[in-house]
Amino acid sequence: MKKIVIANWKMNGDFSLLKSLQASLLSVHDKSECEFILCPPFTLLGEAKKTMGDFAHIGAQNCSAFPSGAHTGEVSCKMLSDIGCSFVIIGHSERRTKYSESNDFIKSKIKLALEYDLRPIVCFGETLEQYKSCETEEILCSQLDFLQDDSIKSMMDNILFAYEPIWAIGTGLTPTLDEIHKVHSFLYKKFGFMGIYGGSVNHDNYKSILNTENVSGVLIGGESLKIDKITKILINE
Ligand code: PGA
Repeated sequence: MKKIVIANWKMNGDFSLLKSLQASLLSVHDKSECEFILCPPFTLLGEAKKTMGDFAHIGAQNCSAFPSGAHTGEVSCKMLSDIGCSFVIIGHSERRTKYSESNDFIKSKIKLALEYDLRPIVCFGETLEQYKSCETEEILCSQLDFLQDDSIKSMMDNILFAYEPIWAIGTGLTPTLDEIHKVHSFLYKKFGFMGIYGGSVNHDNYKSILNTENVSGVLIGGESLKIDKITKILINE
């Protein structure tokens, strides 16, 4: 099975970055070794679909928890589907912490995304404090509680699960490979999925992380804005 590489541009990037990525991937297209999912900001989704559609699946970084109506500033799952997205990141720790998104709110988004044929990329992970006090497994179970819902559980194959320790995001710190292995094996045994790892993945460490048992892919933030690095990662160089 091909490994998955997700690029999360967060609130970064512009048309010219998209163009550079397209040009770079054009030169290596037939060497691509993985499933690539590009998640640029909302404003670039249409252009990304037009220009990158041959190289990447397009994903949004967020969606509304409501289907339509009086929600100024929100973008619905249907709108994302209409513009050509096939994935949407839900529950990223930056949304959980900076925008107070609760597990229940995240669950509503997951349900809605599935209804509109968007594949949710659900992110979850523990804080440094929780990591230090060995609470990781307990925290992950509470964040994955939405799997108790039968309507979600029955569509589990359409969900991507991204384990992202909060203390590893944007910090340059990562768990050891043994720790990554341990968490992903726990997830596999307990919930039956092979997770994606995210948090300070870069060109130097991605291969060993991807080769870790029960890891199905990587979610990359900062390093995915460096066109030369993300291109190399995509062709496994
Ligand atoms: P990072 O971000 O690769 O910059 O740590 C990952 C993420 O937040 O998804």
